[in-house]
Amino acid sequence: MPVYNFDEIVPRRGTHCVKHDMLKQFFGTDDLLPMWVADMDFKTPDFILDAIRKRCDHEVLGYTFFSESYVCAVTNWLQTHYGITTQWKNMHFIPGIVQGIAFVLQAFTQPGDKVLVTTPVYPPFLNVPHHSGRVFVSSPLHIVDGRFAIDFEDFEEKARGCKVFILANPHNPGGRVWSPEELRRIAEICRRQHVLVIADEIHADMTFAPHKHTSFSTVSDVAFHNSITFIAPSKTFNMAGLASSVCYVPDPEIKKQFFGFLDANELSLGNIFAYTAAEAAFRHGEEWRLQLLDYLQGNIDFTEQYLQKYLPQVTMMRPEASFLIWMDFHALGLSHKELVDKMLYEAKVGLNSGLDYGPDGKGFMRMNIGTPRAIVKEALDRITSVLSAYAT
Ligand SMILES: Cc1ncc(COP(=O)(O)O)c(C=O)c1O
Repeated sequence: MPVYNFDEIVPRRGTHCVKHDMLKQFFGTDDLLPMWVADMDFKTPDFILDAIRKRCDHEVLGYTFFSESYVCAVTNWLQTHYGITTQWKNMHFIPGIVQGIAFVLQAFTQPGDKVLVTTPVYPPFLNVPHHSGRVFVSSPLHIVDGRFAIDFEDFEEKARGCKVFILANPHNPGGRVWSPEELRRIAEICRRQHVLVIADEIHADMTFAPHKHTSFSTVSDVAFHNSITFIAPSKTFNMAGLASSVCYVPDPEIKKQFFGFLDANELSLGNIFAYTAAEAAFRHGEEWRLQLLDYLQGNIDFTEQYLQKYLPQVTMMRPEASFLIWMDFHALGLSHKELVDKMLYEAKVGLNSGLDYGPDGKGFMRMNIGTPRAIVKEALDRITSVLSAYAT
């Protein structure tokens, strides 16, 4: 059995990668240790790179559609990991999930319509509705015992008059793995209020035991008949540059409307490398995924222990899935701007500002620990050297 080396540091600068090469555009300065955008610094696994190389050997890269073996790899993965038994006729290639969310808004809502989110949340859930003339309505999450929780009374009140709810399952930035009971309540409220649910499950494959990901459509009949689910191998297998997502729509009416929209807009044909890579990931990726999860959990433990020891005023929400850590800096008594400036200009670490995730993100920052442990340590050392003066 191969043993994968996640400690290897792969230089990424100069490859036009967003995380390292767009620091200047995003932060205004590029002398930062990049701990922001959600891809990982690990090598994309060999079984994916080899599949792409093999496809290149044919030397003709013409229009390509999905193969039977790609379909089998995707449907088997859904069956074995999430208990979803389905056929390709209920699925559709989608280049990226954020684009998929934008497509749903185009297909099911009109400008001026309301879109429900729970904040803090992954910024495109706020920006995509806003940029397309929709209005996002937020039901703020509460922190209960150090984890995000939905205030269901507020959620139902805010759902009234909304057309769509965008659910991050698991959640980004908090890494919450929603329970079947929570998902059932979401489904019931959304059905009662005639709100279509978009279940974005891009982080699902990185759920840490003993937590267990539950795919939204599987929790009840109501959820099954009122949802569009997006999945992708892009986060787990570090291939976000390939645009290789899939949507799953079990309800025939919703499917007809959504797939009709995709087809009418010529959004149906995937791309040759996305199919090749996604098939390899889903067919050969289980061992790599398990070793990755072990390593990421090690990084999370390391970060937690480091903060407790050297910077106890800064606390973190322990992610139940994925490689993003939501850190709480309130106890330092800095304004949000002071905090952001200290990170950028003194610590020189590129973290995501909590305010990008909604107003409730004030005083928080998000750190990406999908990187070799030595880099996580370097980031924490830099942060501590600047903030320890405040941590008295
Ligand atoms: C919850 C969530 N959805 C979607 C995406 C991006 O998906 P895609 O690259 O397929 O648009 C991310 C990336 O961080 C994410 O965290």
